[in-house]
Amino acid sequence: MFLESSFAQSVVATDTSTQLLELVHDLLNGTDSITTCPLDALDPHGYPAGCDAAFHFNFINHLSRRDWTRFIGALHTALGPGSRVLMGAQRCVGVVSASSLGIDADPLDRADQRRCPDGSEYAIIDNEFTEEDLKGMLAGRAKELKMAPVHRMWWASYMVER
Ligand SMILES: C[S@@+](CC[C@H](N)C(=O)[O-])C[C@H]1O[C@@H](n2cnc3c(N)ncnc32)[C@H](O)[C@@H]1O
Repeated sequence: MFLESSFAQSVVATDTSTQLLELVHDLLNGTDSITTCPLDALDPHGYPAGCDAAFHFNFINHLSRRDWTRFIGALHTALGPGSRVLMGAQRCVGVVSASSLGIDADPLDRADQRRCPDGSEYAIIDNEFTEEDLKGMLAGRAKELKMAPVHRMWWASYMVER
């Protein structure tokens, strides 16, 4: 609500999970300038038209390093040059390699085994994301790059070039 009233004319909240978007919808409780949209962030054709800024949190740390370039390609195609991106994540790193938990991933990806309230378990990629990672991922694609650790999180922002 703060984001919408202070910085943006409208906000589209996205996720692949319709369950998560239903929760968001309930939290918004009729705020009509914030809408929800199911979307695969790696699919350049799935994004809503007309967006000129993006915020993602606790997303890229769960993405395989293999998919970073694909994600940035899709996001920047949707936003266009001059758009602003703010991103961040908690600074947790998986205790084992993703491949040791059976995830088909980059050899450098880290992962954890997590337990659901019903007792079932699943493996999730949980990568550290460094300034070098950010610079490499955005080489030639962004300007005004800034990254800062803040307590147990990191934040980064930049302007899309291409
Ligand atoms: C750790 S959660 C973070 C959710 C939210 N950003 C937050 O901070 O509370 C990561 C989210 O990424 C979503 N996700 C995973 N792969 C995705 C993809 N390819 N496109 C869009 N969302 C995806 C998951 O469904 C999950 O809700």
